[in-house]
Amino acid sequence: MRVRDIFIIISIMLLITVAIIAQYYLPVLWSLIVIAPIVLIGYVDIFQKKHTIKKNFPVVGHFRYMLEAIRPEIMQYFVETDTQGRPINRQFRSLIYQRAKKVNDTVPFGTQMDVYQAGYEWLDHSMYATLDDELDKNPRVTVGGQDCKKPYSASILNISAMSYGSLSKNAVLAMNGGAKKGKFAHNTGEGSISPFHLEPGGDLIWQIGTGYFGCRKEDGSFSEGLFEKNATLESVKMIEIKLSQGAKPGHGGILPASKNTEEIAKIRGVKPHTDVHSPPGHSAFSNASGLLRFVKTLREKSGGKPIGFKLCVGKKEEFIDICKAMVSSGIKPDFITVDGGEGGTGAAPIEFSNSIGMPLKDGLSFVYNTLVGYDLKKDIKIIASGKVFSGFHIARTLALGADMVNSARAMMMAVGCIQALECNTNKCPVGVATQAKSLMKGLNVENKTQRVANFHEETIHSFVELIAAAGIQKSSNLERKHINRRVSMNSVLKYDEIFPYTDKGSLL
Ligand SMILES: Cc1cc2nc3c(=O)[nH]c(=O)nc-3n(C[C@H](O)[C@H](O)[C@H](O)COP(=O)(O)O)c2cc1C
Ligand code: SF4
Repeated sequence: MRVRDIFIIISIMLLITVAIIAQYYLPVLWSLIVIAPIVLIGYVDIFQKKHTIKKNFPVVGHFRYMLEAIRPEIMQYFVETDTQGRPINRQFRSLIYQRAKKVNDTVPFGTQMDVYQAGYEWLDHSMYATLDDELDKNPRVTVGGQDCKKPYSASILNISAMSYGSLSKNAVLAMNGGAKKGKFAHNTGEGSISPFHLEPGGDLIWQIGTGYFGCRKEDGSFSEGLFEKNATLESVKMIEIKLSQGAKPGHGGILPASKNTEEIAKIRGVKPHTDVHSPPGHSAFSNASGLLRFVKTLREKSGGKPIGFKLCVGKKEEFIDICKAMVSSGIKPDFITVDGGEGGTGAAPIEFSNSIGMPLKDGLSFVYNTLVGYDLKKDIKIIASGKVFSGFHIARTLALGADMVNSARAMMMAVGCIQALECNTNKCPVGVATQAKSLMKGLNVENKTQRVANFHEETIHSFVELIAAAGIQKSSNLERKHINRRVSMNSVLKYDEIFPYTDKGSLL
């Protein structure tokens, strides 16, 4: 007999029993407060056509959906170990929270990592650690090649691109306020510059995606006039053309009419309450020389600010083409941001997140080597992003070839993200990745502003301490030979063996 039939028989018998007892003892009818809704739910389940499990298992079938809904929390609180959770494991989540709150961030009793497992990485320390007075405690990098009139002195750790729209107003205010306090930069993401990016007064990197939000004509193409208006704002220190991001390279986006409020439409320069498409590619250029001409136009129209582009490496030959075009035209970007395939997003199809886009270490070493091979590195700074959460993560990324790093998800955690993984549902419980005013209210801007600044300060401090232990004085002195990776139980390779350097000019 099927569960459905059993339910029908039991429910009928139960109702008959209550009816019989009620003839002698009326208060038994109170039990219907519990029984009637359950019976009703059961019959709705039986007659609905959408969910087989509920149809076959009336009432009890709901438990599956309830358990499924709290699965991430069960995994996070009860199942995952400190080093296992994804995308960010508990060890790093705790580290980010501790540094953001400036509380004790030491660990007791030794490492929890299996140092004999393939993939374990470490930095070579020195017997001659750098002394305090020889250290550069506030490492900064100047971005801006010879054609740039307004070079920017950037911190080596900045806030990666995340738009107002994917983040709440309060999260954007807290991040920008933190950037102002800590003297680092905040990338706007492709959703343009909102009033909340400007209000606290932190330095901005204005990102321009394929939707050209904030510099867009009515037909969706690029507008030089509108670009100039925003690019010359005092807060905008650098401009980044987004070619792709690691979590969804080559995937466009759609701002649905329901989310395209008057406020968002005004910020992005689109018609409110309409669907707005960001195509997968740019309409302002379609090849390497076109991209470089676009870089030149943006530099001129911004009054000479540093211009760069962000990409997750895909077809290597396309990046090589850009380098060749730089050599032949003499036009160079001031910086290139390399995002790893492991990067985050507000929402992306799983195939794009899982199976497209070169991981950071491979992409970064390739971009660095190619720039060196074409003798272009001297004029171009490299920014890297992809799971940079700690001082060691900064060290190994700079050792591979980056000049500085961006972080998105660690900054989200600094403003309160608990990795509930609801960013794509507008139901973020801590008001970080939502536009729901009731949820956003809980995010205290003043408190989280300080946390963003703290996370930045403490992480840079840990990085500086780490390279001091390696006998290195300046972040730019980090090299691949300083990092080791265990590749099997019995063998270890240095980064310069895994990712060998190219000789300067060797590709010319
Ligand atoms: C909520 C969210 C929104 C994002 N929005 C953008 C964006 O507008 N433009 C972009 O280039 N990257 C965007 N990214 C990607 C990040 O800028 C970054 O490249 C990526 O998350 C890797 O850094 P992480 O590992 O520190 O998070 C977004 C990421 C997140 C988590
Ligand atoms: S807490 Fe908010 S921002 Fe963090 S993962 Fe969950 S939904 Fe996304």
